[in-house]
Amino acid sequence: MNTPDALDELIACRLDAGRKALEPCSVVIFGASGDLTARKLIPALYHLHLEKQLPPAFRVLGVARREKTDAAWREELREALGRFSRTQPVNEEAWHQFAAHLKYCRGDLTDPATYARLKETLAAAPDPSLQQNLLFYLATLPSQFAEVVRQLHQAGLLQRDAGKGWQRIVVEKPFGHDLASARALNQELARHAHEHQVFRIDHYLGKETVQNILMFRFSNSIFERLWNRESVDHVQITVSEKNGVGERGAYYEEAGALRDMVQNHILQVLALVAMEPPVSLEAESIRDEKVKLLKSIRLPAPEEVARHVARGQYFAGVVDGRPQPGYRQEPKVRPDSNVETYVALRLFVDNWRWSGVPFYVRTGKCLPLSASEVRIQFRPTPHVLFAAACNGRLDPNALTLRLQPDEGISIRFNGKVPGINLAVRPVRMHFSYDSEFGAYTPEAYERLLLEALAGDATLFIRRDEVECAWRIVDAIRAGWDGKPLTNREFYAAGTWGPVAAEDLLAQSGHVWHEPRPVK
Ligand code: BG6
Repeated sequence: MNTPDALDELIACRLDAGRKALEPCSVVIFGASGDLTARKLIPALYHLHLEKQLPPAFRVLGVARREKTDAAWREELREALGRFSRTQPVNEEAWHQFAAHLKYCRGDLTDPATYARLKETLAAAPDPSLQQNLLFYLATLPSQFAEVVRQLHQAGLLQRDAGKGWQRIVVEKPFGHDLASARALNQELARHAHEHQVFRIDHYLGKETVQNILMFRFSNSIFERLWNRESVDHVQITVSEKNGVGERGAYYEEAGALRDMVQNHILQVLALVAMEPPVSLEAESIRDEKVKLLKSIRLPAPEEVARHVARGQYFAGVVDGRPQPGYRQEPKVRPDSNVETYVALRLFVDNWRWSGVPFYVRTGKCLPLSASEVRIQFRPTPHVLFAAACNGRLDPNALTLRLQPDEGISIRFNGKVPGINLAVRPVRMHFSYDSEFGAYTPEAYERLLLEALAGDATLFIRRDEVECAWRIVDAIRAGWDGKPLTNREFYAAGTWGPVAAEDLLAQSGHVWHEPRPVK
């Protein structure tokens, strides 16, 4: 008979066996001098190298405008790795081996000569797979995405029809700034690449805990049968952040919390929490279900937005004991800006499973703590038998998926307080990733890069999915059009958001549950 440990190993082996060995390839990063490359992409590739996950032959070509030697680029990246690597100190031997695969190509992204030089550099690779299997990573300004893809196609580096090897494009966020611009970008990409070659990133899908949502729902029978309007009273999704916008004022002025967080991360989490079981684990099956769910989200008419949505902007306050300037005082922010740094929504999913169940989602900057969680709040008991023991108010059961930090799952239920008096109070049962599996914290980008190299699009956003999400965001923005923020919509940095957000839940007799550290 298999012992539990042997079973765990068996399952792990089967999962590994599902992944094909990666083929030799070249990763081309456009925006090689940028923040994303230094902070996320190179540290992720370095860790994949460290863990022997990269193909036997690979190389990384960085393209950017500034004149730079390979050595200078490597030195820059090594310095950044010292600051951003999730493991410290950096393993010098592994870094040197890895750095030997890094090459820099100078060039203006609008100039065809850049792509001709890139082509020559690629053609000089000794292994034909390194010349033909190409992962193009667009870590550039969003306004350059379409141009780079067009130029790649024109240079013959990106083949739309099956040719030699494979070519894929990884597109960073933001993917458009509304439905019309996302559609236009999709159309432009489709002119030069097939949908199966396009990998739209949402780094939340690379997080272990987000991937575990489907595993949790569809590999356990005790929860899924409660996962519907019969048992669930409402759902809360919180993605709170302590940080302000800092140096990203210029970007944030164009984005705001709704576009920056809800359009992508929060709607993705919501889709995974609420979607129907997929037919299989194929990328298309999962993405079909997510699209169906996103299409079922009711779009508010402009005049209904104020009733279902609360927005806010932080003013000066104190976060973690440190003074925090107001949003309007942040660098590159207009002094009379109306951009929201907080948003809370009540969404309804109009389908059989969720009819009438509110999904409350909220996200904001400069809140008291950084935490992301999903809380499934179950219906109260139909009759309170222990009324005397709890003053007539029994806490409803809740299940919390803690996405970060303190990754894990908690169940809240009622228990008898030991003693001769009859008293009942809520208690919590916790599962923690850390204590169960040990510290395993790969960065989301490691997983996503690996999936893109393997050609598995499950953790990436499909064309129709991104458009469905923008449709929801556009409907909300239409209700804000031309309406400046009112006094009730401002909140002090370091607090849980504007009063309007409390009112949003109070209308239906609900309250927000603050994420709580487990330990
Ligand atoms: C990014 C947003 O997509 O996600 C940032 O642009 C935000 O504003 C970040 O801070 C949050 O990601 P994480 O992984 O820290 O929760």
